[in-house]
Amino acid sequence: MDYKEFVDQQVASIRESVGDGVAINALSGGVDSSALTVLGYRALGERLKTVFVDSALMREGEPQDVVKDFAEMGIPVDLVDARAEFLAALKGLTDPEDKRNAVTRTFYQDIFARLVRESGATHLLHGTILTDIEETVAGIKRQHNILAQLGIDPEKEYGYQVLEPLATLRKDGVREVARLLGMPDRMAERIPFPGPALATRIVGEVNEERLATVRAATSIVEKELADSGAFQYMAVLLNDKATGIRDDNREFGQIIVVRCLDSVDARTATAVEIPWEKLHRICAQITSIEGVNRCLYDLTPKPPATIEYV
Ligand code: XMP
Repeated sequence: MDYKEFVDQQVASIRESVGDGVAINALSGGVDSSALTVLGYRALGERLKTVFVDSALMREGEPQDVVKDFAEMGIPVDLVDARAEFLAALKGLTDPEDKRNAVTRTFYQDIFARLVRESGATHLLHGTILTDIEETVAGIKRQHNILAQLGIDPEKEYGYQVLEPLATLRKDGVREVARLLGMPDRMAERIPFPGPALATRIVGEVNEERLATVRAATSIVEKELADSGAFQYMAVLLNDKATGIRDDNREFGQIIVVRCLDSVDARTATAVEIPWEKLHRICAQITSIEGVNRCLYDLTPKPPATIEYV
């Protein structure tokens, strides 16, 4: 594919569709929504309103870092603080699907619907890619094309149309487009991070304290494995506890699982053989997080496991 021609065509097509209206899009910092934001801004300039919704589920410093990265590219992004709403929606939930539903509904039905109304947007730019569509059709993922799955017809309910300029590309194509749009490598090459964010990395209830624990572990794992070349790596907080010793006292503490996987398209995956020395270093740092006294490395491939725990 000629990606330069693709970019030119999509820019022209977004301009034509939006006319003199206003478009809105939600940026997560992942490669798809980031490439879409740059493409949309190239087409519409200030008539594209980009929002980053801080759900309380993001990694350390992520909302501020993403907004700053885009400011450096000259693209304004509104940071919307929705932490309280997400935490309230997740309170008391332990079932994985209930948690995912709470995140999806809070995002689309509550926050995003309000933002769209307030912005007067006529169009929503959505970063759907071909793999998302294929997986939805095959019944593998139930996350995508979320509005339709919630029974929402955006045109009828909110009065806007959805545009999906990346819908013919796969991840490698999106990365090509991202590079062509002049995005830095750390954006174009970013490892996958799920939409429901750290809610997929906590087994059991998601609350501020447990988020702080998994966030600290995530920072350690992402720093230590940044040069692993792996497809994806993560830290997961289990809903179980184990006995340990801290400062000569018995401690019934938290358990963190580390996962690092090779994969091409996330449909299958195998655990990476990480050198013991590296694993020991990760373990030492993770068990110095308050209340965590065990660190496990997960060897399970997909299948039978999935990549995420939730
Ligand atoms: P699983 O856990 O199904 O994950 O093996 C496969 C890949 O998809 C990512 N993932 C998600 N991405 N929204 C997303 O945008 C989601 O709800 C979601 N759930 C899983 C996961 O990180 C892995 O790369």
